[in-house]
Amino acid sequence: MGFRGFFLSFLLLAFRFEVSISSSSSLACNSNDLKALTGFSNCLGSVIAGWNSVASPDCCNWTGVTCDSSTVSGRRIVGLELSSRKLTGKICESLADLDQLRFLNLSHNFLSGSLPDDLFRLQNLEIIDISFNDFVGPINGGMCALSSSIRVLNFSYNYFAGELPKDLANCTSLHHISFHRNSLSGSLPLHHISFHRNSLSGSLPDSVFQLQNLRELLIQDNRFSGPLKNGIANLSNLEKLDISSNLFSGILPDAFGSLTRLEQFSASSNQFIGRLPISVVNSPSLQMLILNKNSLSGPINLNCSAMKNLVSLDLGSNLFHGPIPDGLSFCRRLTVLNLARNNIKGELPNNFKNLDALAVLLLSNNSLENISSALEILQHCKNLSMLFLTKNFYDEEMPNGGNLQFQNLRGLVLANCRLRGSIPQWLRSCTKLQLLDLAWNNLGGRIPSWFGKFESLFYLDLSNNSFNGEIPKSLTEIQRLKSGDISLEEPYTSFQISFNTRAASGQIFSYKQISGLRPTLDLSKNMLEGPICPCFGDLQKLHVLKLKENNLSGSIPGSLSTMTNLEILDLSHNKLSGEIPYSLLKLSFLSAFDVSYNQLYGEVPKGGQFDTFPDRSFDGNNGLCRGGCTHESEKTPTHSSREKKMKIFGWQFGVGAASGFVLTVSCCFMSGWVLPKPRKRKKAATRIGRI
Ligand SMILES: *[C@@H]1O[C@H](CO)[C@@H](O)[C@H](O)[C@H]1NC(C)=O
Ligand SMILES: *[C@@H]1O[C@H](CO)[C@@H](O)[C@H](O)[C@H]1NC(C)=O
Ligand SMILES: *[C@@H]1O[C@H](CO)[C@@H](O)[C@H](O)[C@H]1NC(C)=O
Ligand SMILES: *[C@@H]1O[C@H](CO)[C@@H](O)[C@H](O)[C@H]1NC(C)=O
Ligand SMILES: *[C@@H]1O[C@H](CO)[C@@H](O)[C@H](O)[C@H]1NC(C)=O
Ligand SMILES: *[C@@H]1O[C@H](CO)[C@@H](O)[C@H](O)[C@H]1NC(C)=O
Repeated sequence: MGFRGFFLSFLLLAFRFEVSISSSSSLACNSNDLKALTGFSNCLGSVIAGWNSVASPDCCNWTGVTCDSSTVSGRRIVGLELSSRKLTGKICESLADLDQLRFLNLSHNFLSGSLPDDLFRLQNLEIIDISFNDFVGPINGGMCALSSSIRVLNFSYNYFAGELPKDLANCTSLHHISFHRNSLSGSLPLHHISFHRNSLSGSLPDSVFQLQNLRELLIQDNRFSGPLKNGIANLSNLEKLDISSNLFSGILPDAFGSLTRLEQFSASSNQFIGRLPISVVNSPSLQMLILNKNSLSGPINLNCSAMKNLVSLDLGSNLFHGPIPDGLSFCRRLTVLNLARNNIKGELPNNFKNLDALAVLLLSNNSLENISSALEILQHCKNLSMLFLTKNFYDEEMPNGGNLQFQNLRGLVLANCRLRGSIPQWLRSCTKLQLLDLAWNNLGGRIPSWFGKFESLFYLDLSNNSFNGEIPKSLTEIQRLKSGDISLEEPYTSFQISFNTRAASGQIFSYKQISGLRPTLDLSKNMLEGPICPCFGDLQKLHVLKLKENNLSGSIPGSLSTMTNLEILDLSHNKLSGEIPYSLLKLSFLSAFDVSYNQLYGEVPKGGQFDTFPDRSFDGNNGLCRGGCTHESEKTPTHSSREKKMKIFGWQFGVGAASGFVLTVSCCFMSGWVLPKPRKRKKAATRIGRI
């Protein structure tokens, strides 16, 4: 054979050997890990596609599994990423045999039962995200006894109850902890645990205040109570603190001086009282301070020389009093300001002119004065997009000056101020308007025809004023209500604000986004006259049309049947005559219909949604009858017209109802309302609500 041949075969051998090593390491996952994973999979109520030890023996290739590259006894599993896979069933102990596991993400599934105790004995675990499941029970101690490497814990949106783990303080690497939407408490003894959601109370355990590396503490939507303790001062690395929607009470501790990295503090919807702590109103790091819905009082004494970074300030729905301080205008980055629902008096300070970044200003429900001056000042805030001033400026005159300019205004809510005057000329400059609410004032005159030029307008409420004349035809030319092909730009979505609108019924709705409102035209309770233009049929994107309590006359146009999205139609208390058109049966989304107190006659259409409307919707019309009509000669429909009605009823309603049903059902599916498990529904709805 000779040297050359020997060398070649050596090379070949070495090559073979090399190949066999690398293919064996890429083939096999560690056999203990495979066993653990199979055990885990057996406890699930659902099958994960691709998880099959016969067809695919290397579990490192299974969906959602990440392995390291160790070669000694097969590759080790370091990550399990199985979020949003509709998993059901339980997690059993065998998961805890994956002793090299570093990250575990099982969020957004339907997993239930309690967590295996041994899960927290996993030495290497750094990230646990099991949010949005149905886990119950206490989170047993021992969580951080061994595994001090945990950095991220997300237990939100489950049904955990009982105490927070006692040994949290041993989780020294923890920088993100999120327990919101559970029923955890801090101080109740374990034997008081109830699995019922929101049934416990207790204070935040002191162990939390020893987590000095914590950067985020998010425990909103629980039932924690008692004061927020001074221990919070220990968390000097905190960047986000959210304790909103709990039952915390007492005064806010003056302990924020050491939290030099705190950017976001939200404590809204609690029962805090007293004044704003000195260390809060002097924080140079805070960007977002959200304290709405408490009982905080005193003056608004922010030190804007210190609070250089403040972007969003929400002090709404408290008991703050006094004037709006001049100094607030030195918070030059202020973009969202909510002071609504307090006891603030006086005029808007002149130097608000300097708030260049201001985009959202909510001042409703206070006792402000001098609307002319307020608008004169605010027009200098070029980015102003949402302006809510409801319930202020009582009995003042609406300033009409054509020189005011609000080019970026998207929402103006100036209702219930008993304002006198008419629709002001300066409104014409607000070409981006989406939402206009001037209801419950004493405004008169005509509704100007230039309203038709507001192509983004989709919510208009002018109810309960003294507008007269005819409804301008141009209202039916509003692009957004006709075709909806104008996309709506939300004024400020990166910081959550919620605002209220008042439906004519007096009900108050709270919205996080303008686009959450239904497209609405409400001209009720004015002195409008003339006929309802058949062109209203063009408003195919309108959901709510209210024209009640006016002097409208003529007949109800049959063309209203082309307002295919209409849900509410209120034409009551007018002088409408003629018959109710049978074509309205095509409105398959119509859920409320009122034509009471008019001069209508003939038979109420039968079938479709009409069978669901109560008799009182038709009261006060002498000539109107419902079922079993006694036909007087001139009111009896001719044979041919009756045949036509039957025909309409016959197929068009069928199509309308069927497509309505299909649409509704598919919407339900898309929005997550229809889910395999009925008990999931409520939770699904809250999820949508928060997105
Ligand atoms: C877990 O997965 C979900 C969905 O993919 C993701 O939104 C979330 O950020 C993940 N959690 C962590 C801690 O990475
Ligand atoms: C924290 O860890 C130490 C050991 O590192 C242990 O002795 C102690 O009991 C733990 N604390 C809690 C509350 O579990
Ligand atoms: C603050 O942290 C220190 C050091 O970890 C600890 O000794 C102290 O008890 C903590 N204070 C509170 C109120 O938890
Ligand atoms: C306001 O903040 C500035 C800058 O931090 C500081 O010098 C001043 O003393 C503070 N004023 C009050 C009244 O706290
Ligand atoms: C005004 O808004 C625009 C667009 O959102 C933004 O780019 C700009 O920075 C804002 N101006 C100020 C002074 O914040
Ligand atoms: C009309 O507005 C006034 C306030 O201007 C209010 O007191 C009254 O209740 C409102 N009426 C209706 C029917 O909405």
